[in-house]
Amino acid sequence: MSALVIDSLTVVFGAFQALDSLSLAVDSGEVRAVIGPNGAGKTTLLDAITGITRPKSGRILLGDTQDLTTLSEARIARAGVRRKFQKPSVFPALTVRENLSLGCGPECPARERAARVAATLTETGLEARADALAGSLAHGEKQWLEIGMVLASEPRVILLDEPVAGLSDAETERTIELIGALRRPDRAILVIEHDMAFVEAVADRVTVLHEGRTLFEGGMAGARADARVIEVFLGR
Ligand SMILES: Nc1ncnc2c1ncn2[C@@H]1O[C@H](COP(=O)(O)OP(=O)(O)OP(=O)(O)O)[C@@H](O)[C@H]1O
Ligand SMILES: [Mg+2]
Repeated sequence: MSALVIDSLTVVFGAFQALDSLSLAVDSGEVRAVIGPNGAGKTTLLDAITGITRPKSGRILLGDTQDLTTLSEARIARAGVRRKFQKPSVFPALTVRENLSLGCGPECPARERAARVAATLTETGLEARADALAGSLAHGEKQWLEIGMVLASEPRVILLDEPVAGLSDAETERTIELIGALRRPDRAILVIEHDMAFVEAVADRVTVLHEGRTLFEGGMAGARADARVIEVFLGR
């Protein structure tokens, strides 16, 4: 079953077509990477899915049937689609615990909130930093906190934009483990990343975007062997 379906999605900025009738489906239980050169349309895709950017045409479906295309950002988040932005956007003046509590969302029952925060602290490995101000965290810890904020809402679809940008090799390894632990049969994860070793380690399949269109879809080994992917992206 598909968790997220992108159907012939077109996004324009003035005369520029950022997404050109793009279609892709992410299965429940799958970790999908979206890769491609700068400006390919990867972040625009996440902006359209989360309601920040309105497509000119096409549809975005949650779980094959629920149409998200015209819903507000808040309604899309409430439906269970959560995103980590390209730049970490934690609240620096709040503690790690307070950030995670906000991540649970306003609809989370009070009695469940503490349990979810505790579980998320464990999953992200941030227990020892629970009472530290988010602004005092190292860059890698901030990335994990933001993934934790996404996780605390128990989302059905997790969207991650460049989760290992600027991380050390050890922090990248830790992030690979973390994303592996987020996998669930009833959840889809879509991750954008430029680090190909990371992509190979976390993703079941990759979608290579180029100029707003799909250039390749399949395993990372297939992408590495594809002449067009090498020409526009991997060979650079
Ligand atoms: N709000 C906007 N207004 C005008 N053009 C935009 C806007 N947002 C994105 N674009 C353009 O759309 C194209 C796709 O941008 P996008 O940010 O989706 O690329 P990306 O694949 O995420 O690239 P990167 O790997 O550099 O993050 C780029 O040419 C960009 O300049
Ligand atoms: Mg981007």
